[in-house]
Amino acid sequence: VSRSIIDEAIFSSSVFKNEPTLFHGYIPDQLLFREDKITTIAQNFRPLFSGSDSDSSSGLTANIAVVGTAGIGKSASVKFTVKGLVDSAKKRGLKVYGDYRNCWINRTRSAILRGLLRDKFEIPIRGFGDEEAIDVLIRRLTSEDAHLILILDEVYALKQADIESFLHLTDEFSAKHRFSVIMISRPSEWNVLISPEITQRISDVIYYNPYTHKELTNILTYRSKLAFKDNAIDDDIIELVAQLSLTTNNLRHGIEILHRAGRIADRQNKTEISPEMIRSAQVSVYPELRAEFFSDLDDNEIFCLLAISRNLLDKSLTATTLSDAFDFYKLVCDEFDAQAISQQDFKKVIKSLVSSGIIAVLDSKADSAPNRKRITIHDIPASILKERLEEQLSSRN
Ligand SMILES: Nc1ncnc2c1ncn2[C@@H]1O[C@H](COP(=O)(O)OP(=O)(O)O)[C@@H](O)[C@H]1O
Ligand SMILES: [Mg+2]
Repeated sequence: VSRSIIDEAIFSSSVFKNEPTLFHGYIPDQLLFREDKITTIAQNFRPLFSGSDSDSSSGLTANIAVVGTAGIGKSASVKFTVKGLVDSAKKRGLKVYGDYRNCWINRTRSAILRGLLRDKFEIPIRGFGDEEAIDVLIRRLTSEDAHLILILDEVYALKQADIESFLHLTDEFSAKHRFSVIMISRPSEWNVLISPEITQRISDVIYYNPYTHKELTNILTYRSKLAFKDNAIDDDIIELVAQLSLTTNNLRHGIEILHRAGRIADRQNKTEISPEMIRSAQVSVYPELRAEFFSDLDDNEIFCLLAISRNLLDKSLTATTLSDAFDFYKLVCDEFDAQAISQQDFKKVIKSLVSSGIIAVLDSKADSAPNRKRITIHDIPASILKERLEEQLSSRN
């Protein structure tokens, strides 16, 4: 009996034709509406292919930054371009390495260097210091006459000193022509990050705009064709998903909703995705929008979140400071006739919200005082969060 249950689970029909195309990190063959960005990024690396490396005074100094809000194709287009550059180089007998690091996962210079040497060069560097690791890397690149393009995604999660040290590396004498960095960041984090040290070493900053409604519909149609069988999803349903993505300006939300809705259809043994499946998929894509999420929060947590979202909206920021947030918090308490807690206790509330995953605290400046730490909301627009919190508060009273 158990065998047949398993067979049933594996071989029963599915709405998916190719489910992995909806997995995180899958990069489609076409990145619609990003051709111009891809071209711009690639053009920065033209000197790599001009082959005049006898002239060591010019050469490649491409360090670029890609800046834009969440879910608008930054990571995908940068990975796509670097892969294209690596392939083109190979065809021309040039050696170019591309390495991708998400700085939320690799949060220090050491972690990045270690990962890079291990994954790209099969060099285990346990026990090495950073300087030694850099030395090994540069010697390796020199001996292979190779170039490395290092992608630092969500770069603001690194300490400023670490970011600067990667950029320094690109203009050190021995590393020249061997090493470039592409940094990816959200706009307000980028604005906080930029220092003369950094801007001097950046040759191009490429800004991305969110996709328009029409672009979202087109892209989601394309991604549905890749993933689903014919007739498994209707244009009206795709349109619904496009509208949902538009409310957060985040295409990733749309793609995740498609994926989860497909899973729901399979679980229910349906051959077609319904609007209801989209709606239940949506709830799991933004867990912070689940009703229970808010009812689990105590009043101070709600006031605190409301303060942060109002603060961010007020200043059009994606990150704020503890002391700014605390000022907004006191205003919220006034408004709701509540007794404000001390800034010390406020910090504790922030901490518990961080562990619930809805907000994050960044400290990119090595020497920053604790109250310069920056607080940001994960992935969900402040406007939506603010709305939900206000709803929750009015339903409590
Ligand atoms: N132009 C596009 N065409 C097709 N899929 C896209 C396009 N732009 C982004 N995507 C997909 O949308 C999702 C989010 O893109 P991503 O590059 O991760 O955004 P960001 O790095 O800006 O947060 C990914 O699944 C990506 O494959
Ligand atoms: Mg990204």
